[in-house]
Amino acid sequence: MKFEIELFEKYNIPTPRYTSYPPANYFKEITGNTPDIPGIIEASNKDKPKNISLYIHIPFCGQLCLYCGCNTHITQNKETMSRYVDTLLKEIDLLAAHLDKDRKVSQIHWGGGTPNYLPIEEIRRIMDHLHSRFDFIEKPEVAMECHPAHLTKAYTKELVDMGFNRLSFGVQDFSDKVLETVNREKPLIPIEEMVEYIQSFKDVSLNLDFIYGLPYQSLETYKETIKKALSLQPDRLAVFSYAHVPWIKKQQKSLEKYGLPTAKEKIELFESAYNMLSENNYEIIGLDHFAKPDDELSIALKTKKLHRNFQGYCTLETTGQVYALGVSGISQMENAYLQNTKDLKIYEEKINRGEFPVEKYYLLTEEEKIVRNIIEEIMCNMEVSLPQIAKQYNRSLTEIYNITQVDTEALAQYEKEGFLSFANDELKLKPKGQFFMRIIAAAFDPNMKTNKKSFSKAL
Ligand SMILES: C[S@@+](CC[C@H](N)C(=O)[O-])C[C@H]1O[C@@H](n2cnc3c(N)ncnc32)[C@H](O)[C@@H]1O
Ligand code: SF4
Repeated sequence: MKFEIELFEKYNIPTPRYTSYPPANYFKEITGNTPDIPGIIEASNKDKPKNISLYIHIPFCGQLCLYCGCNTHITQNKETMSRYVDTLLKEIDLLAAHLDKDRKVSQIHWGGGTPNYLPIEEIRRIMDHLHSRFDFIEKPEVAMECHPAHLTKAYTKELVDMGFNRLSFGVQDFSDKVLETVNREKPLIPIEEMVEYIQSFKDVSLNLDFIYGLPYQSLETYKETIKKALSLQPDRLAVFSYAHVPWIKKQQKSLEKYGLPTAKEKIELFESAYNMLSENNYEIIGLDHFAKPDDELSIALKTKKLHRNFQGYCTLETTGQVYALGVSGISQMENAYLQNTKDLKIYEEKINRGEFPVEKYYLLTEEEKIVRNIIEEIMCNMEVSLPQIAKQYNRSLTEIYNITQVDTEALAQYEKEGFLSFANDELKLKPKGQFFMRIIAAAFDPNMKTNKKSFSKAL
């Protein structure tokens, strides 16, 4: 597909990523004992989905990548990590005490930082503790975001033996020059060898993460990177647009001296990746994920059962309400979001006092849940039927229009651009509109009518 660069430039406007609705910068600070956190968690027992998804945040990394936008803590101190795990085990106990015993864990996602920077005994300590506190469904999804600089075959084998069945490698780029410039540690074992090793396990799926928009990434070198990625045939790939937010992540500023690709160059990088991947049988999921046609994400997209949370895309079957453990983690329940403190010291102090280490929260009204549902349908399944949403929530169609304050003018403009069709209150994205799904979703977001928050640009 030939990308119309002018359209990308025209609509490259700051828009929420919609990994949650409302976005995390709408969350409110906790003051004193308000709201009642244990009460919110206990109330979620009555909501659907009944299954429990756990998110475990391990903030530690050995070296800071200059582009990094994640919540990290650079350390070489094993004692610091072990102490963090001690605290995390206490947090598991605290959470388990408030969740109904008949609820089962269907999914665990380990993110960071670099979870595999923890010694394997620490990972086992956490997994054993989870098994002692929760019941699991028969085949839970257990995923870990791994940095290849800290991954050996022996470590991987231990992960698989513990039940990990979804591994993701942060490759970012295969060019040494790019990786050196962004201060990224080199893989311990060549990626090709590790991929082959993972592929020798029958039930383990593999994702590779890439970023475009870093210094020294040219069309030529990036094509080489994607070509090499394709030769490895991972089940999934993520191709992220580099989010440059030096006002939040100060170290990113130091990349500017090398010259960052312009918006136009970034579009061309993504265009080449998109074309190479789709010509080689990978299907695009959402904005930046790709999967083989028989992957469950591709199947869920076709059957309109794709779902999304802070951890990425998932299928409705295994996704539960998400309960986050560890610093900065965000719990995503049916009626509320709770975000843990990012500060390691406060985290430990609060847990040791027997308190949830929650720093921010958001309680959703039914109206906000309706908006969230519409936005999720657009971002995941690329269509939404407003009459169906009205029926689902027992509301009139007029009420749905009033709640979302649909920007019909913007939709008409997007229709003219060939991004979508909007007829009989049903919205369907066209292939060209897929890349603009964030701004299309924003047309249904009443907050965007009076928005005073800042968001990264769409590209
Ligand atoms: C927690 S990291 C993955 C695990 C490990 N820390 C690593 O780097 O390999 C999550 C992913 O976020 C992506 N990422 C990090 N900073 C980013 C940024 N500023 N813009 C876009 N993607 C970013 C990277 O692709 C990275 O693989
Ligand atoms: S290893 Fe991953 S989380 Fe750590 S600094 Fe690099 S990109 Fe960020």
